[in-house]
Amino acid sequence: MLSANDIKRKVGEQAAELLKPGMTAGIGTGSTAYWLLMSLGKRVQEGLDIRCVPTSRETARLATEQRIPLIELNDVAALDITIDGADEIDPKGQLIKGGGGALLQEKMVAAASKQFVIIADHTKLVQQLGAFPLPVEVIPFGWKQVQRHIEQAYQIKTSLRSKDNQILVTDHGHYILDCHFNQIADAPALHIALNTIPGVVDNGLFIGMATATIIGYPDGTVRESRV
Ligand code: A5P
Repeated sequence: MLSANDIKRKVGEQAAELLKPGMTAGIGTGSTAYWLLMSLGKRVQEGLDIRCVPTSRETARLATEQRIPLIELNDVAALDITIDGADEIDPKGQLIKGGGGALLQEKMVAAASKQFVIIADHTKLVQQLGAFPLPVEVIPFGWKQVQRHIEQAYQIKTSLRSKDNQILVTDHGHYILDCHFNQIADAPALHIALNTIPGVVDNGLFIGMATATIIGYPDGTVRESRV
C-alpha cells in the first residue's frame, strides 16, 4: 500500500506527462501540485520547452527553484492547460478548493485554461461537497459584516483563517473565512449567492470548470476520467 505522499507523487508525475513541448500551463498549489512541479522541473531541465503561470507565490517560488520558465497571466490570451489539486471533488466534478489559501489566483488561472485537470488522492472524492470548510476570500475592511451575513443567512459557523497565531493574509491581501456548511446541496446556487455579498472577493467552489480528474489510490492505481 502506498503512503498518502507516494500517491500524490504518482499522480503528480502522471499529470506532468500531459505537458507537451510549446505548451502554456497553469501550475497549481498544494502538496499534490508540489510533485507535479518536481516532475516538470526534471523534464524542463531535460529540455522540455513550456511556459507556466503559477497559481500562488509559493508555486512561483518552487517553479523558479526548478528553473521552470514563468510568464504572467496577462501575457497570454489563453492557457493550454492548468493542473491543480482540490480539497473535495464531487461526482459532477464540482470542487472545493482553497485549503492552501490560493483560491482566487487558482480560479483566475483555471478560468483562462482550455483544459483544467484536477490531481488528487482518493480521499478527496465525496458524494456531496461541504464537509471540508468552504473558504470564502474577503477584503479585510469590514470582514465581520460578511461573517455575520453568512452565519445568519445559512445558520452555520465560520472561522477567520489564521497561521502562526496571526490572521492569514492571502497573496492578494485578503482574509479567508472558512465556512462550515457540512453539506452543500446546491453548489452552483451557493457559489453565486456568496459572490454577491459585498466584501466577498470569491469563494472556493469551482463549478463547471474541471475537464478531467487524475485520482490516485493506495494500491498504486491511478484513474484518469473526463468530467
Ligand atoms: C490551494 O489553495 C488549494 O486549492 C489546493 O489545491 C488544495 O488545497 C489541495 O491541496 P493538496 O494537494 O495539498 O491537498
